[in-house]
Amino acid sequence: IQKYRAFPAVDLKDRTWPDRVIDHSPIWCSVDLRDGNQALPQPMSIEEKLEFFELLCRVGFKQIEIGFPSAADTEFNFCRRLIEENRIPEDVTIQILVQTREHLIRRSFEAINGAKRAIVHIYNSTSPLQRRVTFGDASREEIRDLAIEGTKLVKELVPTVPDTEIVLQYSPESFSDTELDFALECCNEVIEIWQPTPEKKMVINLPDTVQWTTPNIHADMIEWMGRHLNRRDSIDISLHTHNDRGTGTAATELGLMAGADRVEGTLFGNGERTGNLDIINVALNMNSHGIETGLDFSNINELRAVYERVTRMTVGERHPYAGELVFTAFSGSHQDAIKKGLDRRNRELKEQDDLAWGVPYLTIDPQDIGRSYEAIIRINSQSGKGGVAWVLEREHGLELPKTMHPQVGKRIYDMADEQGRELNIDEIREAFYQYFVNVD
Ligand code: KIV
Ligand code: ZN
Repeated sequence: IQKYRAFPAVDLKDRTWPDRVIDHSPIWCSVDLRDGNQALPQPMSIEEKLEFFELLCRVGFKQIEIGFPSAADTEFNFCRRLIEENRIPEDVTIQILVQTREHLIRRSFEAINGAKRAIVHIYNSTSPLQRRVTFGDASREEIRDLAIEGTKLVKELVPTVPDTEIVLQYSPESFSDTELDFALECCNEVIEIWQPTPEKKMVINLPDTVQWTTPNIHADMIEWMGRHLNRRDSIDISLHTHNDRGTGTAATELGLMAGADRVEGTLFGNGERTGNLDIINVALNMNSHGIETGLDFSNINELRAVYERVTRMTVGERHPYAGELVFTAFSGSHQDAIKKGLDRRNRELKEQDDLAWGVPYLTIDPQDIGRSYEAIIRINSQSGKGGVAWVLEREHGLELPKTMHPQVGKRIYDMADEQGRELNIDEIREAFYQYFVNVD
């Protein structure tokens, strides 16, 4: 392990994020059609991108990165179709990505011409590793100049798209692996050229392109940038975390506590390597703390179905909120507690209709995202006696006297054990009739 580097702490002893809670929603930007799409073994077709774009609009995204139009004809044509066929809702802003290279920036402006509003997202990589390896030992000055020249060119091209309101977004790609003073220098150069105002802000996106460090260090880096960036009140600080260390959600939540204003991510975490931040996680985590996010995940099964069809990816069974098994309890003690929790809640709701959610083992009400209680309890050899009684009562209207629960429960688990599998609700009813009611 000596071959790996240790990451230094940020000199920020009086950090504010440990005392913060997230109390309001950030601006959300979906990068499904760009970062998500570029990581697919088989990228989406234009028709699939159109369908996904409409889905993202229905969910409530107001900023959507639609692609990298200067990189490929499909990307360019997709952008043109959105604009020429008037498919972009009034309140939605498209965002396009482009490296800080002259011909690519010029081509990007051809792609967005005629859109009502567009975020032009320019980036260049800044970390020492990228400077050395990818750019062949480029100096800091050379890298900084890419940011400067790119920004100047975007500014120069704005009048060429007179019907389009342009917002600039700059990313020092590989930010979380870049010396802070250098990331700051690049960002401040861009800011001073662009001259944003509180009325006409720009976006400084600070990508965790590859996660090298822990969420707390990432959060400190975000807070440090927030304290040092020029014209802070004219800037939306944006997070763009990936998930290499499995901490995309944690890094985003701490980054928000550290003062970020905006979050980029994808549905179900699609994206390069281990993926981008799963926006659904962060948004539903906020919902479960009573925060309105403006994003509608009330039919998560539909989102999942469209996502799986157009990306040809799958959502894992344990995936937070969306996975097949995440509202399912197999162990008896969990089943029992859930049943008590649901029963008690139903009783208490009669007295108090704004009762806060509080059912053991269920962090949210599955119905809030269009999932049902029916899937919560399944019976296998690990189940408790309460689970079987609950299924018989809830699914089949059979209210057993408590004294029968142990005997019935044991018979059903023995059967599940013998068969080495989960029993479905019809098999449970049949077994009950067979062993306890003696009906032929
Ligand atoms: O991960 C990343 O750094 C990116 C940038 C291009 C923003 O996707
Ligand atoms: Zn990315």
